[in-house]
Amino acid sequence: MTNDKYSVYLDLINNRIRDYIPVSVYGQDVVSEAMNYSVNIGGKRIRPVLTLEFCNLCCGEYEKAISFAAAVEMIHTYSLIHDDLPCMDNDDMRRGQPSNHKKFGEANALLAGDALLTHAFSAICKADGIDEINIIKAAQVLSECAGVNGMIGGQVLDIKNEGKAVSSDELITTHNLKTGALIKAACVLGCLAGNGTDKQIEAAGEYAENLGLAFQVIDDILDVTGDEATLGKPVGSDCENEKTTFVTLYGTEKSFQIAKEYTEKAVDCLKAFETDTSFLKNLAFSLIERKS
Ligand code: IPE
Ligand code: IPE
Ligand code: MG
Ligand code: MG
Ligand code: MG
Repeated sequence: MTNDKYSVYLDLINNRIRDYIPVSVYGQDVVSEAMNYSVNIGGKRIRPVLTLEFCNLCCGEYEKAISFAAAVEMIHTYSLIHDDLPCMDNDDMRRGQPSNHKKFGEANALLAGDALLTHAFSAICKADGIDEINIIKAAQVLSECAGVNGMIGGQVLDIKNEGKAVSSDELITTHNLKTGALIKAACVLGCLAGNGTDKQIEAAGEYAENLGLAFQVIDDILDVTGDEATLGKPVGSDCENEKTTFVTLYGTEKSFQIAKEYTEKAVDCLKAFETDTSFLKNLAFSLIERKS
């Protein structure tokens, strides 16, 4: 994950994402501060990297996808701020620092999350050098993937399922929605920025669905086996909240095998692209070995 291309993408994202976060002008600085705090304290930036790379893969200039990439990362960061709130997973640590609500209080954390969500769509509209039709499509895909039948829906199922017996199919649906959907948006938005074909968009979506499942299975494993300092967030959160996870259903070893199978399926979907897909292949395999 730490190859040259990843670093180039990471630098671009980290340098440009703050441009999409507004400065407050009426004395309500705390909300901008809270937004910048969570966005800038780190994060692997997997989703915006995927956006830039899929743009590149469709033969677009990856720099043109930066506003789409920023939008996806803003929505992801908002989802983390809200996910950590006491009414959700109640976690005090995120990205190696106190969670947003620990630093700014619950009301400001809630509002900073809301503002990141809102301004993500402003970022989409600020796209430069992308056809208007693709900007509209990007807004539609992102809102659907982040919404009731996407990430929000998954978070609802995740909470609803706490303390209950959950089948493998129900867990897959939850993981697909809470994690896979936004990863799908990241990949599809990259294709839209690069003016990709319908076939490429479809393949990107299938890659993302499998990658998203593998990603959340590993997240479930790390919640049990991870080291808190490396992970940057609490371990044991799922157990404390009585969540059914891949680990509770299958144990860590079998879960790892499952994550590997989803990763192989994801990589298989890349065959639809005629350009060099080695970066996305290596990224997918490095994500199952990650420690954070
Ligand atoms: C954490 O996502 C939430 C999940 C969907 C598992 P990441 O592991 O990508 O978190 P950051 O962005 O690197 O902090
Ligand atoms: C969260 O899943 C997915 C989101 C939509 C934020 P988790 O609750 O497992 O994510 P972490 O482990 O807190 O990062
Ligand atoms: Mg959660
Ligand atoms: Mg959580
Ligand atoms: Mg987790």
